[in-house]
Amino acid sequence: MILLKPLRVGVIGCGWIAQNVHIPAYIENPKSRLLAICDTNKERLEEVAEICNVRNRFCDYHELFESNLIDAASICTPTPTHSKIAIEAAKHGIHTLCEKPLASNLKEGEEIVKAVNQSKTKFMIGFNYRFLPNHMKTKKFVDAGKIGKPILIRGEVIEAGPYRTDIDEEEYAHETEKRIGAFFDLGQHLLDLFIWMIGEAREVHATFSTYMDNMTVDDTATALIRFKSKALGNITVAWLDLPDYQAIADSRMIEIIGTKGKIDTEFFGPSLYFYSSDSITSKIRGKIRITPVKFNPKVPDEALKWSYKKEIDCFLESIIMDRKPPVTIEHAMNVLRLTVSAYESARLKSAVSSE
Ligand SMILES: NC(=O)c1ccc[n+]([C@@H]2O[C@H](COP(=O)([O-])OP(=O)(O)OC[C@H]3O[C@@H](n4cnc5c(N)ncnc54)[C@H](O)[C@@H]3O)[C@@H](O)[C@H]2O)c1
Repeated sequence: MILLKPLRVGVIGCGWIAQNVHIPAYIENPKSRLLAICDTNKERLEEVAEICNVRNRFCDYHELFESNLIDAASICTPTPTHSKIAIEAAKHGIHTLCEKPLASNLKEGEEIVKAVNQSKTKFMIGFNYRFLPNHMKTKKFVDAGKIGKPILIRGEVIEAGPYRTDIDEEEYAHETEKRIGAFFDLGQHLLDLFIWMIGEAREVHATFSTYMDNMTVDDTATALIRFKSKALGNITVAWLDLPDYQAIADSRMIEIIGTKGKIDTEFFGPSLYFYSSDSITSKIRGKIRITPVKFNPKVPDEALKWSYKKEIDCFLESIIMDRKPPVTIEHAMNVLRLTVSAYESARLKSAVSSE
């Protein structure tokens, strides 16, 4: 079915990601009308609703879903709350864009998959990094065989963190303690990109550490991944809680080496570097610099904003055109499975199968 009217949308959770990404993107996009918002924190709810001029305000997402006001919703609440809200949305026939990570453990993830598959709703997970122009271009090059068969992929995200979320510490203490570390938060972005670009993984061997005194979860992590294609992947992530972290390290990269060439990207752009032994230009000039979209290189935020807008547009498009969202629930589950295997590997100090 192709819808002609803008989709009626609600946003659940009015914190950082909702205020900076989802709410403005739905307001700006002609394919949607932001009709309602929801947050358990009444003060924040009222404040955000006033700024965005949204009349329908809910403290309880059940009431929002019962209201018949919306066709689609973004879930922008802390990760341990995703499953309950996503399952309820599917039951009410509401299409959902759920922020990453999908859930805080495999059981919750599988429950979401079951509820979504029993409904006729579209479900997308917010892995926005894959909408960065450089990564879209890289994926195109890899799929077109421009670097031959990928044999090694390396990725790094080292940034300020951790970002605290307002969650009910008592209710979610167990999961927060066990799961929401730097690898759970940042590693999943890279695992999403790796699986999307290279294919499914077979095995992971991870090592986690904690350098911050007051931290109970991993704040630094590395993981080696063996893919079904026999390619190997290597991920490094870290939260830096240092006063001058930008001077020390604030770095993100992806590099893929194939049997016929290499791609390395500046992550947020503007450029990626490409070498192919099939390309005469590469042979003469060496690495070729490609700039998929002209962004101001001094403002990586521009690329990030662009990726979020594109993500939300693709979600709306998938409902309107009645097609699979670009980040499927099965893919999100694969990423979660590999992440949980990485935690298991770090605990056991050995490689763990993710199949
Ligand atoms: N894509 C990305 O790169 C990215 C970046 C930041 C955050 N996130 C994800 O977005 C989610 C939210 O993160 P955030 O930084 O915006 O958190 P936040 O703490 O700033 O906001 C969360 C909001 O949800 C509200 N909330 C909590 N439980 C609720 C419930 N049951 N019903 C309604 N509202 C509820 C809280 O009161 C709070 O206002 C997390 O899953 C996080 O991993 C993704």
